[in-house]
Amino acid sequence: MTSMTEPKPRTAGHNQPPALDVDRIRKDFPILERQVYGRPLVYLDNAASAQKPRQVIQAMTDVMEGCYSNVHRGVHKLSQESTDLYEGARGRIAQYINAASSDEIVFTRGATEAINLVASGLGQGMLQPGDEVVISWLEHHSNIVPWQLLRDRLGIELKVVPIDEQGNFLYEDFLALLGPKTKLVAVTHISNALGTITPIADIIAAAHEKDIPVLVDGCQAVPHMKVDVQALGADFYTFSGHKLYGPTGIGVLYGRKDLLNRLPPYQGGGEMISSVTFERSTFKSAPHRFEAGTPAIVEAIGLGAAVDYMNALDFQAITAHEQDLLSYAETRLSEIEGLTILGQAEHKAAIVSFTMDGAHPHDIGTIVDRAGVAIRAGHHCAQPIMDRYGVAATVRASFGLYNTRAEVDKLTDALHQVKELFG
Ligand SMILES: Cc1ncc(COP(=O)(O)O)c(C=O)c1O
Repeated sequence: MTSMTEPKPRTAGHNQPPALDVDRIRKDFPILERQVYGRPLVYLDNAASAQKPRQVIQAMTDVMEGCYSNVHRGVHKLSQESTDLYEGARGRIAQYINAASSDEIVFTRGATEAINLVASGLGQGMLQPGDEVVISWLEHHSNIVPWQLLRDRLGIELKVVPIDEQGNFLYEDFLALLGPKTKLVAVTHISNALGTITPIADIIAAAHEKDIPVLVDGCQAVPHMKVDVQALGADFYTFSGHKLYGPTGIGVLYGRKDLLNRLPPYQGGGEMISSVTFERSTFKSAPHRFEAGTPAIVEAIGLGAAVDYMNALDFQAITAHEQDLLSYAETRLSEIEGLTILGQAEHKAAIVSFTMDGAHPHDIGTIVDRAGVAIRAGHHCAQPIMDRYGVAATVRASFGLYNTRAEVDKLTDALHQVKELFG
């Protein structure tokens, strides 16, 4: 039951040197040159938001300095150039996830808005009271709350796929939840809180056997593994630009063209209409029907540059490098007495969530910060999973393509200091 797009499980040994040229990559990220409290920055908060390479920063600066204008509406030269860059970015993002057409790429503010867009559309006459939406215990709040709002408004039901103690998605339990009333499966590709990689290809195949569409929250997947929405068969696939080394304020809803065109508009306004009279309006087809108002032009172009940046690298090397970091981090962290790692799923991305006896996650985060190491402490917008493990919060170190084993060592050293302070 392994899906072809998943990284291989991490290995026990640390003998194979990563093929990624991390030294060169690090030079692309200006922020990595800065110091924090007099120490070199060690940035291990990539699951929350990743840093930006010069290429992205430059692409955004170039637009603003060179051809900035509103898109689509203008006949003048600047507007045409901006429109070409904006639509060009859409095309390259479509290729990045192997969408069949750029019409299947809707620009949103982020994954949150993308999921809300689908929930809002389905809520307008496409779901009936008693219909069921299946999610999992691994979901980020952005793939829970929109469905709860719909439940409270429409009387649909939410079914939740459980996980085991290691954080594995329980596939047999998932199958048991699929029934005649299931109208949508909405699950994450990778858990931001535990790192679990769900068997997404199998999930989609099983749902499709029952003609149930599947929305995948791919926020944590697109920066770390090759995603092919057609090979997966995803009906909807969502992600945020800022976790993919791109800017904030921009994200993507991929949707199969036929499905997108069946969804009613999300917001009304300029750009999304074909015609407007006081009696009625008619709407463009996807993706423009979902992009009301002036879009995030510069940010979309920045996301296009982020995708170009990723395309210039070898994805297998990225995945191997990050799996190496995961394996190394788990080994080093287990040296620390009283440290417990939450989530040891068979297939796991480079995210390590942990607690330490006698030390609150926020105190750990603060002490580690003084050593220049940026990690996250909290519930990671995934409170149900915290409840599942009986904790209010964890500390989370999440890795990206520019991180190194030496940085894992710095994290470990800082955690030893925590241990000394808290005993
Ligand atoms: C798995 C997952 N889904 C959704 C989101 C929401 O992304 P955004 O806040 O960019 O909309 C996040 C952000 O942390 C995430 O990790």
